[in-house]
Amino acid sequence: MTQELTSTDPARAVHTPGGRTGWWRDAVIYQVYVRSFADCDGDGIGDLRGARERLPYLRDLGVDAVWLTPFYASPQADGGYDVADHRSVDPLFGSLQDADDLVRAAHTLGLRVIVDIVPNHTSDQHPWFQDPELARQRYIFRAGKGADGELPPNDWESVFGGPAWTRTGRGDWYLHLFAPEQPDLNWENPEVHAEFEAILRFWLDLGVDGFRIDVAHGMIKAAGLPDIGHKEQAKLIGSQVLPFFDQDGVHEIHRTWRRLLDSYPGERIGVAEAWAPSPERLALYVRPDELHQAFNFQFLTADWSAASLRAIIDASLAATASVGATTSWVLSNHDVVRHTTRLGGLRRARAATLMMLALPGSAYLYQGEELGLPEVTDLPDEVRQDPAFFRGDGQDGHRDGCRVPLPWCGETAAYGFGPGGSWLPQPRAWKDLSVRAQTGDPASTLELYRAALALRRAHTSLGDGSLAWTDAPDGVLAFTRTGRSGHTDLLCTLNTLDRAVELPRPGRVLLSSTTLAAEGDTALLPGDSCTWWGL
Ligand code: NOJ
Repeated sequence: MTQELTSTDPARAVHTPGGRTGWWRDAVIYQVYVRSFADCDGDGIGDLRGARERLPYLRDLGVDAVWLTPFYASPQADGGYDVADHRSVDPLFGSLQDADDLVRAAHTLGLRVIVDIVPNHTSDQHPWFQDPELARQRYIFRAGKGADGELPPNDWESVFGGPAWTRTGRGDWYLHLFAPEQPDLNWENPEVHAEFEAILRFWLDLGVDGFRIDVAHGMIKAAGLPDIGHKEQAKLIGSQVLPFFDQDGVHEIHRTWRRLLDSYPGERIGVAEAWAPSPERLALYVRPDELHQAFNFQFLTADWSAASLRAIIDASLAATASVGATTSWVLSNHDVVRHTTRLGGLRRARAATLMMLALPGSAYLYQGEELGLPEVTDLPDEVRQDPAFFRGDGQDGHRDGCRVPLPWCGETAAYGFGPGGSWLPQPRAWKDLSVRAQTGDPASTLELYRAALALRRAHTSLGDGSLAWTDAPDGVLAFTRTGRSGHTDLLCTLNTLDRAVELPRPGRVLLSSTTLAAEGDTALLPGDSCTWWGL
């Protein structure tokens, strides 16, 4: 949780002397998908000034830090994950001055700022790719197979669907694990390493507190680029090591970056977006000399069942503890179906979140989940922008439905998102889900998040520390929490069944995802609910 940030120059804020270290170990970090958060200039697309104006909302929500998705110069073939210039801000989102202002404003409010870095690929409009000589050395080109080189060099498929290779006008092929507009960089070239170190320094000098590393398991490809011999490779991601993902060589890059981060004051961090096949392999990314955090996607993809949640929680905690790190829980982001919809309704989403915030470690929240927003499943095809939609059934499916701009207030679209409409249409029902509509309503999801985050700050049993399972009926999870200070005065129960379950009353209700009866010696846990009990 956040300690005081102090500096005469807020953009370069460092810890207060004596402030506790390891802030990331249990930080709650809020993902701002810039394009859909708040639009200041009225073009229907969120921007950095819009985000800056809403920072007080995030401070009051009770998060410790903000992660901003890419706002760099980009043709936007993949929502900005196709970067053409890593050191400039796309005019869609504002200017470098706006980025600087945002970082300073956040620091003044006691919020840290993490930005995205995209090292596996660039945009095809990047000057390196535009120059044929440079491109040959800094990207991955190969001759094709077949009599005239008319077949791709190997059988790799793009994560977005279709082959991972595109043939150039000159007859050879280049690799793109994502869209054709996102050629993969050649990390065997030292100039690529040097450039990314310089980019990291650029943003660290501007004052950012860390980086979310896109495709942190990419970059290094198996020698000889061997065939996989399997179709539908996207389905294998996250369940096995592939010749293009989770190769051991990536760890050397993360070690170098860790040394770079450590050379700056103020505990700057790196968080890996790595789809590793097991908690053990994921933990390799957070060894003491590598990154600080890695998103726990196995938790995100877990079934709604007590047994599978418990198994994943146990395996994750054991794996990260074995390297001295904490686990970074996450339920939603801009690439997956929002958890309200994925888990089968708001009741479950609220329960899942409350349990997540009780687990030891850090947690990531995706904008709009605090409003209980569902996935938008009926977007007309003509408004969709996700390249995965246009290229068939890629790993990430169709991701526009979780990227619809936030409703802030008002009766009509764009519900306070901005003065000029919104780049994806918002459902009419979102009028009742806006920040203003939910504020002050104790039954609202927004107030549940606010209360949970406030308790998490206040309660010494929560955040970093350990967990102990206690006996519970089938379908129910119950665990006590011990914080860093050694206090154990909180118990969390999660009923994953769709019917109520009776328990001996464990204590007094601190917070619940629903209303529940707890009188005398018994408590009735409603179906799909989570409760924090004070012991
Ligand atoms: C992961 C990002 O979260 C996703 O949005 C993007 O499409 C891919 N990486 C490629 O950069």
